[in-house]
Amino acid sequence: MSTSRPNYPTIAQTVGHTPLVRLQRIPGAGNVERNNVILGKLEGNNPAGSVKDRPALSMFMRAEERGDISPGDTLIEATSGNTGIALAMVAAILGYKMILVMPENQSIERRQSMSAYGAELILTPATGGMEYARDYAEQLQKDGKGKILDQFGNKDNPKAHIESTGPEIWEDTQGQVTHFISAMGTTGTITGVSVYLKEKNANIQIIGAQPEDGSQIPGIRKWSPEYIPKIYADAKVDRIEYVSQAAAEDMARRLAREEGIFCGISAAGALVVALRVAERIENATIVFIVCDRGDRYLSTGVFPA
Ligand SMILES: Cc1ncc(COP(=O)(O)O)c(C=O)c1O
Repeated sequence: MSTSRPNYPTIAQTVGHTPLVRLQRIPGAGNVERNNVILGKLEGNNPAGSVKDRPALSMFMRAEERGDISPGDTLIEATSGNTGIALAMVAAILGYKMILVMPENQSIERRQSMSAYGAELILTPATGGMEYARDYAEQLQKDGKGKILDQFGNKDNPKAHIESTGPEIWEDTQGQVTHFISAMGTTGTITGVSVYLKEKNANIQIIGAQPEDGSQIPGIRKWSPEYIPKIYADAKVDRIEYVSQAAAEDMARRLAREEGIFCGISAAGALVVALRVAERIENATIVFIVCDRGDRYLSTGVFPA
């Protein structure tokens, strides 16, 4: 005798549909007077803890659908952290081996999270940065050690945001979004969300946040010309604004204490830009991406005890 059961989701089906929350204190009285609302999209609520769960699932599933990969294969990726954790989770769900190449100076929580999902880690010298890690992963692929999904050049990365992040923002703001702000790493988030939102309303302003020269913000980079991600679509980003590490770290602490939003440094950098934008405008609905959660940064000392 069989009983009918509720349609329980798998862990993969819990990726996306993240909350969009209104900031209550940090925007201040000026934004209330100017009738601006600032909304954070909480990507840390994804199952592996960051915005990267979306492209990781998208890259795996679509490669599998095309017959490029099949369960049991070994995949390789150079990653500064969040993508690696997300790919390690998806590899565990779908039954693949995952080799992750990352600079040795990324936080210990990131490394431990990847290992927890069963991925193999290869640490590269901090002095070589992500560029060295990317070259190293390429060499592994050339040596026949596995296949690279290539988050920097893979169209299935922005596609995840065209099909999920963009529509969620449009629906949750009931089409009222006027400005979208995202930190830029692979640029998959900003490019994909922009494609969707600008198709809905070409006037929506898309603004990227990158670290100032000399500043280090985990997960995002001001790429040298030869390493600019292939998926980056210049025309889809209206403006890039630069943020100092100190300003981003300070804002990360404020977000936790004043808003109860405990997030990473790049997300806080995006909010620094959002506040700058908000100063000059009125009647705006400004959305910024909260890429991940703050507990991923505890060992870095940004949130002192
Ligand atoms: C902490 C963090 N912030 C921002 C980003 C940027 O996202 P995207 O790669 O879609 O540009 C990343 C990317 O890995 C990240 O790890």
